[in-house]
Amino acid sequence: MHITLKNNVSWVGKIDTELRQFHGSDYSTHKGSSYNAYLVKEEKTVLIDTVWRPYAESFITNLASEVDLSSIDAVVVNHGEVDHSGALPALMELIPDTPIYCTKKAIDSLKGQYHKEWNFHTVKTGDTLDVGNGKQLVFVEMTMLHWPDSMACYLTGDNILFSNDAFGQHYACSGMFNDMADQCVLTYEAMKYYANILTPFSPILKRKLAEIGSLNLDIDIIAPSHGVIWRENPLQIVEQYSQWCDAYKENQITIAYDTMWDGTRQLADAIAEGIVGSDPSVVVKTYNIAKTDKNDVMTEIFKSKLAVFGSPTVGNDMLGSIAGFLHFMKELKMKGKKAATFGCYGWTGEAPKKIADFIESAGFEIVEEPLRNNWNPTEEVLQQAREYGKRLAHA
Ligand code: FEO
Repeated sequence: MHITLKNNVSWVGKIDTELRQFHGSDYSTHKGSSYNAYLVKEEKTVLIDTVWRPYAESFITNLASEVDLSSIDAVVVNHGEVDHSGALPALMELIPDTPIYCTKKAIDSLKGQYHKEWNFHTVKTGDTLDVGNGKQLVFVEMTMLHWPDSMACYLTGDNILFSNDAFGQHYACSGMFNDMADQCVLTYEAMKYYANILTPFSPILKRKLAEIGSLNLDIDIIAPSHGVIWRENPLQIVEQYSQWCDAYKENQITIAYDTMWDGTRQLADAIAEGIVGSDPSVVVKTYNIAKTDKNDVMTEIFKSKLAVFGSPTVGNDMLGSIAGFLHFMKELKMKGKKAATFGCYGWTGEAPKKIADFIESAGFEIVEEPLRNNWNPTEEVLQQAREYGKRLAHA
């Protein structure tokens, strides 16, 4: 499969339509993904990144149909994670002396994973690699976006930013360009990727976007390492990131709960009713966290101005489904969110307070005392839950 980005730059990656789980099973990929590698063929031939290890053989076969492998002058490794470097060992068996350009940290990650002494060349922000015909690759360190070793590079002349994981999406789109994609899927998958992977690094990203902006680069194409390539209005995703990295929220409230004998679920539904009845402009979404994909729910929390978490009490604490979700949410270091908690109990009833304490430590502002109910809710209690929802709508 040959895809030209511009002039002598082509895509040589792999579209993985079957992928349903990524990072082990930590990230759901309902729409598959792609591992994007790029080939620059000017006076010098440069390969930018590879693909995940299971596709190493087909990657090398395809690459060899594009170029004589022995004519590759350099390999750029923007990031050492295995989804981009996995085919490197097999490739380097064939071209063992070819220089590899990467950050100092990437040498650590590549050596740590593959235990090879390749011909490494360390690069830093501002360093360049002359590819001939008046064009250069300019390297930009992207430390902690999202690994310490991450890097991007920019091809002058063609004005292409190879951004690696930044601006990516887990989306297997046969068209490979943003103007050929289903726009609803693209927007959702880009946000899900940001929410579940990049949110903890928002302050760093904010500074990096300012730094890249100050370079006044002409950017015609943004070519990430996953999903579609941004060629139609490519800066739209930069603008989107500048909003997402700044305590992003929409006029949405998300209720996420688990339930044992339906009591906590009844409270969840009554709270939702109260919010909707009080402010119809608010988008309200309710999920049983044990029955819904955690990355999808996390994307909804990312969009929300307020989140309401519920759990019955078991063993003096919250259910494991909620605990696991909240632990993941705390890692993401979301900013500027409000929250409240609720739950039914039979004997001791600690869960709502424990959830509140935990999410407060995760940076959420608790706007109401926990709503607790002993045994099954009566109609009077459900009305109290509706009133609770009304107060949350205006919190
Ligand atoms: Fe797509 Fe951080 O690897």
